Amino acid sequence: MWRRATSLSPLIYSFKSSFFIQQGAQQKILERFTTGLPLQEKDGISPKYGAPFLTFVLGGPGCGKGTQCAKIVETFGFKHLSAGDLLRREIESDSEYGSMILNTIKEGRIVPSEVTVKLIQREMESSDNQKFLIDGFPRCEENRRAFEKIIGAEPDMVLFFDCPEDEMVKRVLNRNQGRIDDNIETVKTRLKVFEALNLPVINYYAKKGKLHKINAIGSVDEIFEQVQPLFAAHKNEA
Ligand code: C5P
Ligand code: MG
Repeated sequence: MWRRATSLSPLIYSFKSSFFIQQGAQQKILERFTTGLPLQEKDGISPKYGAPFLTFVLGGPGCGKGTQCAKIVETFGFKHLSAGDLLRREIESDSEYGSMILNTIKEGRIVPSEVTVKLIQREMESSDNQKFLIDGFPRCEENRRAFEKIIGAEPDMVLFFDCPEDEMVKRVLNRNQGRIDDNIETVKTRLKVFEALNLPVINYYAKKGKLHKINAIGSVDEIFEQVQPLFAAHKNEA
């Protein structure tokens, strides 16, 4: 089991944190598309009990991340953690950050990394599973750095579901899941955010040789045929 001894600190965030020392254009994009919280002290926890197998699952809105994650869970026994689902769950609970998260999601912008990472951390710590699919995360370089800093780990593998924009828009507007952000205005912002902030993360993992690009056009089973071989090593553990 992957646990740490100390209790969870409050969800905190600092504008002055090292995640924000990016300069120039990238900084401007970050400011435009991310939400900040008032300055509080950092906790600097870096728990590591054993090494879980971590897979990040990336791709734009409606590219099929969640659908493919469900197939991976079923076939290979991973624990699926969707950052978006965890944030939506946080809105439903009486969290002090509920309304900030709701407004940020409504606008299609990015929630402060430390909030999201702490939610992921809480789920990882309470799971008996050692294999995680972290879906919709990291959404930006700042998300990525926050994860490395707080969790003290890097992904073993990164999947990127590559889908043309017009197809993603079509899927999102047709999926009828009652999501507040599945409307054309918010989708436009989400696509801009994806291009400006998520593509640099994808390129980062490509350079590290960790990225597996999946063609996200086709039936669920056709797409899973590309995904399945990547998890071959986990076949007998499901
Ligand atoms: O991945 P999903 O489409 O469910 O994410 C919905 C929204 O949740 C995003 O548009 C964004 O506002 C928020 N989110 C975030 N940071 C993440 C993942 C999701 O702020 N890492
Ligand atoms: Mg999803």
